[in-house]
Amino acid sequence: MCGIVGYIGYNQATPVLLNGLARLEYRGYDSAGIAIFNDDKIKVAKSEGKLANLKNKIENSDVSGFVGIGHTRWATHGEPNERNCHPHTSENGKFVVVHNGIIENYDVIKRQLREKGVKFTSDTDTEVVPQLLAYYYDGDLLKTVSKVVNELAGSYALGIICEDYPDKIIAARKSSPLIVAKGEGENFIASDISAILDYTKTYITLDDGDIAELKADSITLYDKELNEKETDFIVTDLDVSAVMKNGYDHFMLKEMNEQPEKLRGLYNDYVKDNKVVVPELDKIADVLDNCEKIYAVACGSAYHTSIAGKYVIEKLCRVNVETDIASEFRYRDPILNERTPVIIISQSGETADSIAALRMAKEQGAPVIGIVNVVGSTIYRESDCVLYTKAGPEIAVATTKGYATQLMMFYLFALYFAQSKGTVSEEEIAKYCSELEMLPAKIERLLSDTKTIEAFSEKYKGANNFFFIGRNTDYAAAMEASLKVKEISYINSDAYASGELKHGTIALIDKGTPVISFCANKKLFDKAWSNAEEVVARGADVVCVVSEKDEDKIQQGYEKIVLEDVIDEFSTMLEVVAMQIFAYYIAKNNGCDIDKPKNLAKSVTVE
Ligand code: AGP
Repeated sequence: MCGIVGYIGYNQATPVLLNGLARLEYRGYDSAGIAIFNDDKIKVAKSEGKLANLKNKIENSDVSGFVGIGHTRWATHGEPNERNCHPHTSENGKFVVVHNGIIENYDVIKRQLREKGVKFTSDTDTEVVPQLLAYYYDGDLLKTVSKVVNELAGSYALGIICEDYPDKIIAARKSSPLIVAKGEGENFIASDISAILDYTKTYITLDDGDIAELKADSITLYDKELNEKETDFIVTDLDVSAVMKNGYDHFMLKEMNEQPEKLRGLYNDYVKDNKVVVPELDKIADVLDNCEKIYAVACGSAYHTSIAGKYVIEKLCRVNVETDIASEFRYRDPILNERTPVIIISQSGETADSIAALRMAKEQGAPVIGIVNVVGSTIYRESDCVLYTKAGPEIAVATTKGYATQLMMFYLFALYFAQSKGTVSEEEIAKYCSELEMLPAKIERLLSDTKTIEAFSEKYKGANNFFFIGRNTDYAAAMEASLKVKEISYINSDAYASGELKHGTIALIDKGTPVISFCANKKLFDKAWSNAEEVVARGADVVCVVSEKDEDKIQQGYEKIVLEDVIDEFSTMLEVVAMQIFAYYIAKNNGCDIDKPKNLAKSVTVE
């Protein structure tokens, strides 16, 4: 995904755009650019690579002006170089556009325009937008934008400026997030509110098909037929500190340390007198009463929470849970109906594959429960029931508090569902609630003393391959551990069900191969231990992640990360936090860009 920001007002636009892009860099950072109205001409500055390169480039140039748009890119079509960097300009220089999303019919449009003599300068899908605007332009900017966006297939969040209208910015949205925000004598567009929290907290999220016209002192909203719409602004309760590092070296470390507080918040919201109370789920009581099977569908780390959640729901509620990655789920023609609710898990609420899975589920009559962290996001708005994870903005591309709050929401869902089905006694529910209540403090203590784990990170920072192995809830931890290491330290790794290793993959174990064996599920310890010994017998260097209650079972010579004891059902949480620390310090020791790893973006809003 990419980041878009726009400003129109009485202040210099460039500083506002650069500040906004800095807050949006987590959305993509292959290249960046801005376009500013400067003496009624539009000046464009762009550069490959991180935003700092753009800042250096414009330091000594005149990009003054009061109206502008900016973009930070995660490349989809066209290499991440200056030629393909946004903003893109029509051949006649009249239209300048920034875009997030994919114009799926760009090749048809590009070919048609080329046949009419239009010359393109980039390999991007986006460039067809300014070129088509110029082609249709009859002097009426709004009508031209409406005509063009109605020809576009795919997804777009657009910021548009036109040389003939130096006092306007036009914004348009379909499937890619875009907000318009109101200041005093100044107005903004942005991919999300975090970009402009320094200036205003009053905003509206555009709906699909919306077109907005911004002047310095007004915002007018239209639907795609250009019928004027009400502008129901909302005020965010986010504070700008939520999008700043506040003294931490990285957003990832800050967000890891926010986990206890965020989990406490969810516990306090949903556990009352040792019972789980979830009004959002009360509203779909009939769905849960008639539920024959649950699907849990997501991508990446969000998918990993569904693996851990599956074990808990099946054990406590005695209902089948089928998990799948969204990009597979949407093409396998699953058997869905009103008795098979689908849980879609997404921190950003804008992941394209997860949105597509949600829409397919709804088309087939399956109720959708969204576990989401962004209010007003597409998945938030299109779910039949939303379990809002309240993690606050997550800036680091590698999710931590996003993951932890999603997993906590699964635990709460399982307890609520078990309560309503009567599959777990009140005493048992009270015990589980007490375990949930203690989790945040255990995470806090783990995060407050990371020396042991840091030592392992130092020892293994030069590894060129890791195996993470475990069974059941330990396997769920292994999956998330493996992704954390891969995505921030670029070290290849594999998560394996430890019982499966001997069916082929153990052939890859050599002397010194680092294997992290998750054994915190006490009921499965013996099995986990025997799998650990199988790889040790072939020369592996094994580190066991184990509950303090089983620490003594770890024989001499084996390295171990000892965790405070947690009930087996919830043991994944602490194991994953330990691995967040492990991955963080490997990446830090290796000088990796922890918050903005190469090739990644915070939310993948393209398929
Ligand atoms: C995890 O660290 C990654 N950032 C990635 O796997 C992420 O979990 C995945 O892209 C899903 O994103 P979402 O939760 O916003 O849908």
